[in-house]
Amino acid sequence: MGIFVTVPDHKPDGPTLNLENLKDAKVLVVGGGGREHAIVDALSRSIYVKKIFCAPGNTGIAALAECVPIGDGKVDELLEFARREHIDLTVVGPEVPLSAGIADAFRAAGLRIFGPSKAAARIESSKSFAKEIMEKKGVPTASYRTFTDYSEALEYVKAGSIPVVLKYDGLAAGKGVVVAMSLEEADAALKDMLLEDVFGKGKVVVEEFLTGPEFSFMALVRGKEVWPLALAQDHKRAFDGDEGPNTGGMGAYSPLPYITPEDEKFALENIMEPVAEGLFEEGCPFEGLLYGGLMKTPQGIKVIEFNCRFGDPETEVVLPRLETDIYTMFSAVVDGTAMPEIRWSDDHVIGFVLASKGYPGKYTKGFEIDGLEEALADPSVRIYHMGTSVKDGKTVTSGGRVMMVTASAPTLKEARDKALSAVDKIRCDNLFHRTDIGHYVL
Ligand code: AMP
Ligand code: GLY
Repeated sequence: MGIFVTVPDHKPDGPTLNLENLKDAKVLVVGGGGREHAIVDALSRSIYVKKIFCAPGNTGIAALAECVPIGDGKVDELLEFARREHIDLTVVGPEVPLSAGIADAFRAAGLRIFGPSKAAARIESSKSFAKEIMEKKGVPTASYRTFTDYSEALEYVKAGSIPVVLKYDGLAAGKGVVVAMSLEEADAALKDMLLEDVFGKGKVVVEEFLTGPEFSFMALVRGKEVWPLALAQDHKRAFDGDEGPNTGGMGAYSPLPYITPEDEKFALENIMEPVAEGLFEEGCPFEGLLYGGLMKTPQGIKVIEFNCRFGDPETEVVLPRLETDIYTMFSAVVDGTAMPEIRWSDDHVIGFVLASKGYPGKYTKGFEIDGLEEALADPSVRIYHMGTSVKDGKTVTSGGRVMMVTASAPTLKEARDKALSAVDKIRCDNLFHRTDIGHYVL
């Protein structure tokens, strides 16, 4: 296994980790999707972690952690649980509890939690806040204007060029972005967002359309300090050839050969670090995982969006490559101690999402899934559950995205072949998947 130090010249500072203090840790992971399954999987490899709880968790997570029936938005109940169980560290997966202030509540109660405050989480929950920080720090991003009035927004769109991108200014579960290919489409989206208020009352960011390959830059952040993780690429469209509606993500892979070390350095120094600094200067230092959704455009690397948490499904292909103990990394962020050297396997990991037919639109649940054991017979295959449950002792579908089948291998092509042959072993009447994940490279 090779060693890949993402930022060779980044000197850790702060006191050294006291590893004795970390021993026999009880950890609570908040969330119940594929991302949380991958986080639990990584924590289960830590020599410091004795017991993992996951709230609410899922069928796959139940093999590695004790699932607790508390919804991920129930901040008071989660806090009460963490107190009662003497949880040493809570790791938050989704953005909704972060935007609701779960990290503030835990810290106020003196509990260790990995995740940003409500104020810092605005980097994801408010597109206009994110744009203001970028503007202040000179971070490259699409030019834009913010509107609350439908007619003014429409006038601006008419005067500009098509395609144009319209973004609802708030959390919309990945559905608040429309890339309009015609004026009619843009008009319809503005009507939905500003007249019909389909996501609630709010603002719309009208943004310049950028082109180029997208990539996800995830980094651990504490105040002004930024420690990059390995890069990954998500595939957001539902169907092969990047056709069809936007989804939560249909597959991903890591590493990314088309992003050079110079690109990565540029993104670190001109995007991630200035934004961490901007949040610090704004009085809301970020502590947790900062996700930059970036695009390599002909004019250089620019920001598409920020998230305040691990990406899904990127986490499912990044964390399997991590060789450093993730509990020591989370602890360094939470305690302000020195970050251990972050090492990655040279292997390529790729993952294919199996989704319910009809997703991201309407779909039905409860279809039996067979063949998981056969698929897992290959030791390089890992399956992360996203939307499954158990009915009469059988695994059944219970969500739009049902599971992510991943494989690792020395080359992306081998990894893809292994993952697809594992997918072929899974039998279910109501699933579909993309077959071209990684097409940009393969
Ligand atoms: P977001 O939820 O902001 O990540 O947007 C969803 C998807 O819409 C992105 O992954 C891009 O593919 C696309 N998109 C968002 N903003 C732009 C933009 N300014 N130019 C081109 N495509 C964009
Ligand atoms: N994969 C995109 C996201 O996590 O928002």
